[in-house]
Amino acid sequence: MCGIVGFIGKKEASPILIEGLSKLEYRGYDSAGIATMDNGNISVAKCKGRLANLENKLKEEPVKGNIGIGHTRWATHGEPSDINSHPHTNEVGTISVVHNGIIENYIQLREKLISKGYKFCSETDTEVIPHLIDYYFKGDLVEAVIKAVSRMEGSYAIGVISAKEPDKLIAVRKDSPLIVGVGDGEYFIASDVPAVLNHTRDVYYLNDNEFVVLKHDGVTILNEENEKIEKELSHVTWNADAAEKGGYEDFMLKEIHEQPKAIRDTMTSRIALGKEITLDKITLTKEQIEKIDKIYIVACGTAYHSGVVGKYVIEKLAKVSVELDIASEFRYREPLINENTLMIVVSQSGETADTMAALRLAKSQNARVIAVTNVVGSSVAREADDVFYTWAGPEIAVASTKAYITMLIAMYTIALFLAEKKGTLSKEEIENIKKDMLELPDKTEAVIKDKEEIQKYASRTYMHKDIFFLGRGLDYAVALEGSLKLKEISYIHSEAYAAGELKHGTIALIEKGTVVIALATQNNLFDKMLSNIKEVKTRGANVLAFALEGDKKIEGTVDKTFYLPNINPLLAPVLSVIPLQLFAYYVAVQKGCDVDKPRNLAKSVTVE
Ligand code: M6R
Repeated sequence: MCGIVGFIGKKEASPILIEGLSKLEYRGYDSAGIATMDNGNISVAKCKGRLANLENKLKEEPVKGNIGIGHTRWATHGEPSDINSHPHTNEVGTISVVHNGIIENYIQLREKLISKGYKFCSETDTEVIPHLIDYYFKGDLVEAVIKAVSRMEGSYAIGVISAKEPDKLIAVRKDSPLIVGVGDGEYFIASDVPAVLNHTRDVYYLNDNEFVVLKHDGVTILNEENEKIEKELSHVTWNADAAEKGGYEDFMLKEIHEQPKAIRDTMTSRIALGKEITLDKITLTKEQIEKIDKIYIVACGTAYHSGVVGKYVIEKLAKVSVELDIASEFRYREPLINENTLMIVVSQSGETADTMAALRLAKSQNARVIAVTNVVGSSVAREADDVFYTWAGPEIAVASTKAYITMLIAMYTIALFLAEKKGTLSKEEIENIKKDMLELPDKTEAVIKDKEEIQKYASRTYMHKDIFFLGRGLDYAVALEGSLKLKEISYIHSEAYAAGELKHGTIALIEKGTVVIALATQNNLFDKMLSNIKEVKTRGANVLAFALEGDKKIEGTVDKTFYLPNINPLLAPVLSVIPLQLFAYYVAVQKGCDVDKPRNLAKSVTVE
């Protein structure tokens, strides 16, 4: 849950490392540090807090050298502090390491190293790494790193520099992302592509247990046996600007505005009128699909909420039973899996530890796995049998918006794909849904244009302490996501309820002035929803409702109605989530919260 970078070339490393880290702050931001090497001497600068603190420190005490490593941290072992910040070094400061992940057996390793006379100064798991490399160094740094890594259990992407061999930077990954950027006479490592995009578009996506040695004259990739391996260089086609704020105040607002494009891109080449659904990286045949007797959708957080929609639409359209699971529960509950099980894992980052574990569990029991992910070459993409890439582009804000909306598109597309193969819908029914889907980019655009209405409402409600979201059916799925968005960036307590369930307990919390946001886009449930709204109104709630254009019946019952463009109710979640994202955003802004980097959270949760 951290970001690492590394550089070797002719330029000064320090500004390049800082710039790379600025693109990775979304991975963690409670401390930052760099180590550079000059004339065989390593200098380390690190401190608690945002990257800006490190930049200030470097202004006072610059570090020199044209080789270096850097780190932005999200604390797991040891509180955020200067001493716990990375890079960590061996006692004499000749080996320096940055690490993203967790060394699970660090206590045993630490005890062993202490018994050999090594001294530790931080509370981190990472500090064992430079000591271990030191312990195994017998004149060859690569061999020492390979040996040290073979003793480590857990997840890691690490970058190493050493005064013992000042001409190289060594890196390796297992269960944590790592890419290698190949520039003109300069080479990079990073946890994510945006960190290198200002310098190169040519990257290697490393697999688990692959080591890379960066030198001034090139890159060598090795396996655990210290044997050279060949890898294909990938060319990144998306723009570096895509990872910048582009004039918006925050990444989150920018990403909300990018949703029409993200939806369009995700449908492109997959959904076209008069043509079969094309999913190029899903090779499931009609025969294999017919044998599937159960689908699990497994994910965490917002990705899980897209799965709530997925369950509704896959069962409705493809007539196959879907179980929905939170990945951290699924992996420990002995779920029933066999070769007729299809698992759909959903993960924006493709690196979420619990989701990965669920995927591996399903694979070990012969299930077929489709990964829905936004990150090309991510762990879930590499380990699943089939992949559905959502083309949302890089999502930087911790609170997911455009990735979520493209996950919804993935759910609809997979449901239609299965329905088409199984023949559970007629050609005409499929064409009608596709036609409605193709209208989504324009309709989402229209919803975003009305953002000022939401902003006004947010400015009247931001001081409330509790906010409830209600919905039935697909509206309930969206209520869950709206509530999570509000909680994570504005720190307001909020609950999402299936509207019919409220009277079984939670309605006790409704009192005069309680804010209730009610979603009422599902025409088959509209009257039921209206009754539930009346139940909270009677108890004094102040209700904002979301309904589809034309459903005027709701107006007399609620305090304010926000109308969404008319759409097939099956697809309404794609529209109705947008005002909820905007509501969370404007409430957080009014409260002065750091929208893109909410407290206690990280973009990618690569630990359990
Ligand atoms: O990368 P993933 O989609 O697997 O991440 C799952 C959750 O950690 C993520 O959706 C989280 O809930 C977001 N902060 C929500 O905005």
